[in-house]
Amino acid sequence: MVQWWTAALLLGAAISPSLAINTRAPFGKRAPSPDVVTNNIVPLRKVKVPTTIRSAGRRKRLNPRSTNTTGTTSIRNYYQLNYVAEMQWGNKTMYMILDTGSSDTWVLRTGYECLDSNGAPTNQTDCTTIAPTFSGDYTGGQIDNVNFYAAYGSGMVTGTFGWEGITIAGLTVPNAQVAVVDQAFFEVYNASGIFGLAFQSLTSEYPGSNSSQHPSKQRINYEPIFYRMVDQGLSLPTFTFAPQRGGDNGYLAFGGIPPVNTTGPTVALPILTTNATKSKPTINQGDYYTISVDNVIYGSNGTTKSYGSSIQAIMDTGTSGLYLPNDLITSIANSFTPPARYQNSSSAYSVPCNATAPKVAFTLGGVNFNITSTDLISALTDSNTGHCLLFLFDGGSDGYILGDSLLNNLLTTFDLGAMELRVTALA
Ligand SMILES: *[C@@H]1O[C@H](CO)[C@@H](O)[C@H](O)[C@H]1NC(C)=O
Ligand SMILES: *[C@@H]1O[C@H](CO)[C@@H](O)[C@H](O)[C@H]1NC(C)=O
Ligand SMILES: *[C@@H]1O[C@H](CO)[C@@H](O)[C@H](O)[C@H]1NC(C)=O
Ligand SMILES: *[C@@H]1O[C@H](CO)[C@@H](O)[C@H](O)[C@H]1NC(C)=O
Ligand SMILES: *[C@@H]1O[C@H](CO)[C@@H](O)[C@H](O)[C@H]1NC(C)=O
Ligand SMILES: *[C@@H]1O[C@H](CO)[C@@H](O)[C@H](O)[C@H]1NC(C)=O
Ligand SMILES: *[C@@H]1O[C@H](CO)[C@@H](O)[C@H](O)[C@H]1NC(C)=O
Ligand SMILES: *[C@@H]1O[C@H](CO)[C@@H](O)[C@H](O)[C@H]1NC(C)=O
Ligand SMILES: *[C@@H]1O[C@H](CO)[C@@H](O)[C@H](O)[C@H]1NC(C)=O
Ligand SMILES: *[C@@H]1O[C@H](CO)[C@@H](O)[C@H](O)[C@H]1NC(C)=O
Ligand SMILES: *[C@@H]1O[C@H](CO)[C@@H](O)[C@H](O)[C@H]1NC(C)=O
Repeated sequence: MVQWWTAALLLGAAISPSLAINTRAPFGKRAPSPDVVTNNIVPLRKVKVPTTIRSAGRRKRLNPRSTNTTGTTSIRNYYQLNYVAEMQWGNKTMYMILDTGSSDTWVLRTGYECLDSNGAPTNQTDCTTIAPTFSGDYTGGQIDNVNFYAAYGSGMVTGTFGWEGITIAGLTVPNAQVAVVDQAFFEVYNASGIFGLAFQSLTSEYPGSNSSQHPSKQRINYEPIFYRMVDQGLSLPTFTFAPQRGGDNGYLAFGGIPPVNTTGPTVALPILTTNATKSKPTINQGDYYTISVDNVIYGSNGTTKSYGSSIQAIMDTGTSGLYLPNDLITSIANSFTPPARYQNSSSAYSVPCNATAPKVAFTLGGVNFNITSTDLISALTDSNTGHCLLFLFDGGSDGYILGDSLLNNLLTTFDLGAMELRVTALA
């Protein structure tokens, strides 16, 4: 029986070089923006999802990502472990999951139709969220003859697009293109929707008003909220994610860094091209926030092992755990005391909840960044054994992901002007 839940995006829409960009040219390449403390911050809260709220049968784990990564988004959630921030839609307060692994921003419409994991309509009682949903009209009107569709590994949404006044972190974007979802497979108990913070190239608008029709070749890009914020001069082209693992003193900041304490050096990591685009990323042609991990160092009982190869992985606030090469995951799993065991029932490694985690550090830009043991052992248990599941997963051939298990330890600035990430250890 699977007690945890994932919302990895499933759709493998291949990128088409002829994708239309139906907005004016966005901001261009520039020098790194200064990392000064800003007031444009919004506190981060955790989504809390009781494990009993849904039948476990619906939480089947789907293929996390297809081989064709571009055009997909990559939310993968564990209970209690995604970060949400408050955002105003017109005068409506919404609680949005922050996702640097996707680019569309949407909320559920009040009374939306509930879908199952295959996209078929299902029992409406399976789709309750206690977070606010959207009713009424877009303040700036609906956009006619287009539709919104995005498919996640255990989530799928369709809806309409419109223009809405969006306020977050004290910044108001008067006319942002956003979506309201009419049909959803989205099992998040306490969130209104998703705030996508990745590149414009991952946005998903389709021609025609029939939301059943969304051939990937016809996908249209539009200007996501953060691009518009920058184009309107509301923010420098950076945002910074600095969560606080155990509490409410973490922040998302725009155009600067939040007032949190850090320690040690800051390293700059270029945003890399991915095999999907095969081109040097620019503001028009990025997809995910892909970086290079120089090495992974781990050990217990005074012995230290080193993976010894660099790994390309995406930095994704919408993923809870770490998706890495299988040989690395297996070796780290064996470094727990007692060693972790793979549980077929949960499709995850688990350890007795009082196990001792190895020390694990990621080498980024030549600097080792430690991971706290609570970011390796989750509070979720396998129902057969009562053991705690690990946040370490086989990334398979679908691409490697650095989720909140790493990001919880870092202040991470996403600089879209300089096309780099800057990371510093949180104190
Ligand atoms: C991935 O996309 C390429 C290019 O569009 C296509 O040729 C290939 O069949 C796709 N692969 C899969 C597994 O969908
Ligand atoms: C739901 O989220 C809101 C906003 O973050 C929070 O105030 C509230 O306590 C949460 N409710 C539950 C039951 O977790
Ligand atoms: C939001 O604005 C609408 C239309 O002006 C109004 O009917 C509604 O009461 C407002 N809601 C709040 C929470 O202020
Ligand atoms: C929907 O779910 C509720 C609660 O689990 C149950 O009482 C009801 O019979 C279900 N309805 C259908 C049509 O399956
Ligand atoms: C929308 O598209 C679907 C699938 O192509 C089709 O079955 C349906 O009839 C269409 N709906 C309308 C209202 O045209
Ligand atoms: C940062 O550290 C200083 C000195 O220890 C402390 O006074 C301050 O409260 C800390 N700030 C935050 C935001 O934790
Ligand atoms: C990208 O392609 C190169 C060369 O084909 C391959 O060696 C590498 O493993 C691929 N990387 C990913 C993340 O798929
Ligand atoms: C660490 O040492 C303890 C005590 O000798 C031993 O029980 C444990 O298995 C060792 N752990 C690993 C991962 O080698
Ligand atoms: C777990 O699954 C694998 C592959 O499906 C299978 O070979 C293995 O026997 C299973 N182990 C247990 C303990 O069920
Ligand atoms: C961990 O818990 C098990 C059973 O719950 C107990 O037997 C064992 O002694 C504990 N180990 C440690 C290191 O506390
Ligand atoms: C990281 O962990 C290593 C090994 O435990 C330790 O020596 C080092 O001081 C830690 N670094 C930081 C910045 O905490």
